[in-house]
Amino acid sequence: MNEALDAVRWLGDAVEYIDQRRLPHEDLIRRAATVDEIETAIKTLAVRGAPCIGVFGAYGVALLRSSVTDDDAFRAAALRVRNARPTAVNLMWAVDRVLAAQDMLAEARAIHDEQRSIDDRIAAAGAELISRDARILTHCNTGPIATAGGGTALGCIIAAAKAGKRPHVFVDETRPLLQGARLTYYELERAGVDATLIVDGAAAIVLQRKNVDLVIVGADRIARNGDTANKVGTYGVAIAAAHHGIPFYVAAPRSTFDFSIQSGAEIPIEERPADEVTSCGGTRVAQEGARAYNPAFDVTPGRLVTAFITEYGVVRPPYQESVPDLAYRPNLAAMAR
Ligand code: MRU
Repeated sequence: MNEALDAVRWLGDAVEYIDQRRLPHEDLIRRAATVDEIETAIKTLAVRGAPCIGVFGAYGVALLRSSVTDDDAFRAAALRVRNARPTAVNLMWAVDRVLAAQDMLAEARAIHDEQRSIDDRIAAAGAELISRDARILTHCNTGPIATAGGGTALGCIIAAAKAGKRPHVFVDETRPLLQGARLTYYELERAGVDATLIVDGAAAIVLQRKNVDLVIVGADRIARNGDTANKVGTYGVAIAAAHHGIPFYVAAPRSTFDFSIQSGAEIPIEERPADEVTSCGGTRVAQEGARAYNPAFDVTPGRLVTAFITEYGVVRPPYQESVPDLAYRPNLAAMAR
């Protein structure tokens, strides 16, 4: 198995990141030092994945504290980073944590360190749910480059593979930006895990005919009732999994749970430019002037989620009780440091 790529790295005078838009064809390392560069990296998905944008945003704000001396200008810059994408709550959570700290860089480093140990715990809990020779379907990308740690849903699968369980993964390509085809397949291959790429529209027939044992996905925001925002297409996979009696798991750290909202109806859904739909890989496929609707996420009702895999273990229904309970647990990752 290859070593995981470093998604994000603190350099002292800049935040280094791997440009995820160029993978798998090129390992392009870039630096962000200004608020424009930090915000653009997040908005363009050069840095993406809910926990990863949290870690990157945390370092970004710590960096801006040292370069933007005027307090009002600094707060405005921090706000731009915080609001660069609206759905993944990890970004707001991480920026708020850094802003509340005395030593902002130390706090950003702590968030990054914690993410690594949280991911290890999620992977260990999730690997227990994966049996020998399991056939698994996943959507979008939830590996090391999506978290700046070991990954969430993909981390569980990679841990099962390391334990010798030989999982096989059906990877949804994840239109429109192809995080599955470009990133998940690549990360599984690097980790030595067997994978088969499918178009998103094939997920239902794969669940119907290919003896899939379980689905595991990540999340961008989870409400108190278990409603889960994740990459658009996840909801359809959850419906098909429920129809075929296949367990549907969501792997996510506590920082992805938004304890301030009761249900998924309160989750803001990012809408992205139409040209991501009318084009594919930079080539226009729809006719000139074609209209498109491009929600980046959808919300899977909590009742379709078999369980959440978290750093506190497996969280099962009724979510109205088990999810809010997570808010009161001690910070395991900080205790492990
Ligand atoms: O738009 P993206 O690529 O940032 O969307 C990412 C996802 O939807 C992931 O599934 C989610 O952030 C979990 S990452 C561990």
